[in-house]
Amino acid sequence: MHSVRTFTTLIAALLLTGPAVAADLANGKALHDSACKTCHQSDYYTRKNRKIHSIAELNKQVARCQQGAGEHWNAAQIEDVAAYLNATYYKFK
Ligand code: HEC
Repeated sequence: MHSVRTFTTLIAALLLTGPAVAADLANGKALHDSACKTCHQSDYYTRKNRKIHSIAELNKQVARCQQGAGEHWNAAQIEDVAAYLNATYYKFK
């Protein structure tokens, strides 16, 4: 019984935290640093007239740019990088 309860608690925790919290920021940073620094540096994300104004736009831009960078990231990888950029620079809620 004990392990069943632990398992149930684990599932509940996963359901409660949701995708934004589940994103792997360290993986996002690693992917970003290996693929994204050729065209623009980090200060590009904090400049005054930046174009991205929501987490949804950020996800789309990361999806676009990773293609431009010649990568073939899956949705989870794109989300990790978007979450890393959000946590580090954009700070959207
Ligand atoms: C081939 C060059 C190139 C590479 C490589 C590249 N980008 Fe971009 N990135 C651009 C250009 C150009 C823009 C401006 C987009 C526009 O004006 O439509 C941009 C804009 C952005 C923005 C929006 C900045 C803002 O707030 O205004 C983000 C976020 C971004 N890139 C993320 C990434 C990520 C993540 C990667 C790595 C997958 C990456 N970029 C790799 C060319 C590149």
